[in-house]
This record gives sequence, structure tokens and C-alpha cells, in this order.
Amino acid sequence: MPAVAESPGHYGYGRLASSAEIAGWDIDVRGDDGAGLPPGKGSVVQGAEVYADQCAACHGAFGEGEGRFPKLVGGIGTLKHDRPELTVGSYWPFAPTLWDYINRAMPMPAPHTLSADDVYALTAYILNLNDIVSSDFVADRDSLPKVQMPNRNSFVWIDPRPDTAAKPCMNACIDPNDVKITSTAEGRNLTPRTTGPLDTMQPK
Ligand code: HEC
Repeated sequence: MPAVAESPGHYGYGRLASSAEIAGWDIDVRGDDGAGLPPGKGSVVQGAEVYADQCAACHGAFGEGEGRFPKLVGGIGTLKHDRPELTVGSYWPFAPTLWDYINRAMPMPAPHTLSADDVYALTAYILNLNDIVSSDFVADRDSLPKVQMPNRNSFVWIDPRPDTAAKPCMNACIDPNDVKITSTAEGRNLTPRTTGPLDTMQPK
């Protein structure tokens, strides 16, 4: 068996991914503290220019949304209405998430074509359209995590429910033969009936 270093795929094929290749995939940015935000910066004014060029056709000149394309602005205070308007301003809890989303997904026809500086500028511009930052705001890896989003404190961050309802058992546990299935998702009409061989295996 050759040494692992010579055959990184363990079975003798493949090779280790280079750090450049890993960096290409490793683009996630954490919402609350902005971990993963790259160097670079962009102002509201720069963002207005890129936005007019690459985003306004779908999202409207001021984020109001063209046709049925999503609004990026407004809706603050509507979350309890019958028709809540979820936008960056009314709903999103973290500003770094806006950088991350634009960076990975927009402009819709050509994602991954914007420079880090342009994404910072667009983030600054959209925050400014929402009246969350002033027009002289400059977005960078330090300033974005400090932005207080209006809906930040309306999320429930701690889920008090246990991971599973079953008590773990490490010894003298129940004999599997004594396990009785008392109800199934299908029996409770939660899933459609399957057809074919699986049917014969369903507990009745
Ligand atoms: C061709 C139309 C189009 C263009 C151009 C476009 N977008 Fe979008 N954008 C969309 C669509 C459609 C969605 C909704 C995608 C989804 O929900 O899966 C979206 C979603 C978004 C969202 C998330 C909205 C939310 O609250 O969920 C943001 C932010 C955004 N776009 C920013 C931008 C920026 C910045 C640009 C310019 C760089 C841009 N978009 C260009 C069509 C477009």
C-alpha cells in the first residue's frame, strides 16, 4: 500500500485539492460576526453606480422591485400583517448575510462575476436605501458586522427543544424484538401510500 501522501484518495486515485481550489469553494460568510468576509471595501455612492448597471432592471432603481422581482427595500413593520413584506430592511437579521448572498447569487444572470469591492458597495447601497446606514457609510469586514438590522431582535436564537425525544440507552436496553410499531406516517395519512414491494413491508 503506498503512503497516503502519494495516494490521497486512499484507494490510489485522485489528488489533494490545492489551497487555491479550496479557497474557490470556501466563500461562506457568517451572519452575526461576519467571519469569512474578505478584505476590500465599498461606499454607498459606488454601490449606486454598480446597482443601476447590474441590479435595477430586476429590483427597481430604488429597490422597489420591477414586476414580480423581489423588493429589497421597505416593508418595515409589516411582518405581522396578513401580507407581510419580507425585505432586506424588514426581515434580514444580519448585514454580512447581505454581502454573502449578493456574492454567491447575484446578479441572477451572472453570479460570481462581481469583485469583493463591488459587493461591499452594493451592500452599502442597499442598506442605505433601507435607511439603515447613512449615505457616507463605507462597507468593509469591520463595519458590516456592527450594523444593527431592524429585525435583528425578533428572531428566536435559542431552540429549547432537545435534539431527540428518546432517552439514550447505553446498556440493558430494550430487546429489539420487543419493539412494537404503534403508528406510522402512512397510517396517520402523513405520506401518500407507496406502491410496489415496499407495501408488503409496511407494518399493519
Ligand atoms: C435577472 C433579474 C435579476 C438581477 C439582474 C438581479 N437580481 Fe437579485 N434577485 C432576483 C431574483 C429572481 C431573486 C429571488 C431569488 C430567490 O428567491 O431564489 C433575487 C434576490 C435577491 C436578493 C434577496 C432578496 C430577499 O430578500 O430574499 C438580493 C439581496 C438581491 N437579489 C440583490 C441583487 C443585486 C445586488 C443585484 C445586482 C448585482 C441583483 N440582485 C441582480 C433577480 C435578479
